[in-house]
Amino acid sequence: METILIVDDEKNYLVVLEALLGAEGYEIVTANDAKAALATVREADLDLVITDMKMPGMSGMDLLEECKKTKPELPVIMMTAFGTIEMAVEAMKKHAYDYIEKPFENEQIKQTIKKALENYRLVKENRLLTEALSDRYRYGNMIGKSKPVLKVYDLIDKVSRSKASVLITGSSGTGKELVAKAIHYQGPRKDRPFISINCGALTETLLESELFGHEKGAFTGAVAMKKGRFELADEGTLFLDEVGEMPPSLQVKLLRVLQEMEFERVGGTRTIKVDVRVLSASNRNINVDVSNGAFREDLYYRLNVIHIDVPSLQERIDDIPLLVRHFIKKFQNNGKEKKIELSPEVWKAFYSYPWPGNIRELENVIERAMVLNSGETITIDVLPEQLTGAKTEFDVERFIPPNVPLQKALEEIEERLVRRALAQSNNVQAHAAKNLGITKSLIQHKMKKYKIIV
Ligand SMILES: Nc1ncnc2c1ncn2[C@@H]1O[C@H](COP(=O)(O)OP(=O)(O)OP(=O)(O)O)[C@@H](O)[C@H]1O
Ligand SMILES: [Mg+2]
Repeated sequence: METILIVDDEKNYLVVLEALLGAEGYEIVTANDAKAALATVREADLDLVITDMKMPGMSGMDLLEECKKTKPELPVIMMTAFGTIEMAVEAMKKHAYDYIEKPFENEQIKQTIKKALENYRLVKENRLLTEALSDRYRYGNMIGKSKPVLKVYDLIDKVSRSKASVLITGSSGTGKELVAKAIHYQGPRKDRPFISINCGALTETLLESELFGHEKGAFTGAVAMKKGRFELADEGTLFLDEVGEMPPSLQVKLLRVLQEMEFERVGGTRTIKVDVRVLSASNRNINVDVSNGAFREDLYYRLNVIHIDVPSLQERIDDIPLLVRHFIKKFQNNGKEKKIELSPEVWKAFYSYPWPGNIRELENVIERAMVLNSGETITIDVLPEQLTGAKTEFDVERFIPPNVPLQKALEEIEERLVRRALAQSNNVQAHAAKNLGITKSLIQHKMKKYKIIV
């Protein structure tokens, strides 16, 4: 049921309108001065406000302004007495939805209200849709809650609000592009474009015209003017992927754009001003290129105002069960929502394999397994060779840093095993305990000890 607030200092009008609109099935709230009305606007979940213009104390116009400040979308209809029509025009300028003249025709006021409510419903639906869309991009659909990833999320939250340049590093397939998108879609630029360009995939001349655009006739083949990515990303974000591959001549140009936020198209003389947030990524250590002169140091510092290092899958091995479940869902043919399990050998292989291709490799392995597998359990024979041939012994050197006291090392391993057992059993404590060969109360004790919350 939709709720309408009626505001008038004349009690008669309140009574008449309440009866008229109540009969239409709306829920009616009334106030006989603007102050009380404002309190209701702030607290209640209203769909429409109808207010008289002239009231002692705070006027209807003031109320309109306050409403627009607190709830800009909430429609407000003004009631004007004879002779205050200029004020009604003024109110429309201040974004009143409509006005009605007193005394009013019942049919007319009912129609106006119906239209206002319909319009508001559309506005709300629209907002919910956009919210749902941007929610989908919260951390850009990133899965994982291991400690190193929580740190990345935290950094994303912090940097998304600022305009500072961020350099995202990490091995291939760790999710650098996903991090860049998360920063963009969580920040104030989210309704503006996210434009990306791979600096390693294009020749120098092509890269230049892709970045800065070109004028008609700038070079053979330039049959028309073309805007560059910097122009397309205006007020939004430009993601420079594999920035370490950028040739030196373009590094100079890029530095100038980052400093001045202006440039000319290739073959052009007009200076173009833009407002672009720059994020960049590299799977190589650019530090090395800086020290051997292949990458300009000044540019490196411009790009690397904030540094986010995305952990490899090996460093976030605790996330494997979550990622596996996520990808199984992704590659499950719609409609066939069978529960797919992994055989114990598959889990073992997943935990001992070093995953040089990181999350992308895991994703590919699951996609392949889903195609080749026929039953409800993914078995070892549908895994690619590199996984089945993997060494399955526990490699102490890899997991435990040197000189860790034995007790601490054992606790570290214990914590991981408990977390893993819980994740693999969908957080059903009894199952996890059974798989670990311990009692349910013991697993609960361990969860408390390691502060594991499921
Ligand atoms: N945390 C995550 N949750 C779910 N999927 C992920 C996650 N991280 C990465 N992926 C997926 O893994 C694949 C690789 O991610 P992405 O392209 O962002 O990696 P990258 O670091 O940019 O790799 P490259 O260095 O090869 O360009 C994508 O399909 C992405 O959706
Ligand atoms: Mg990438």
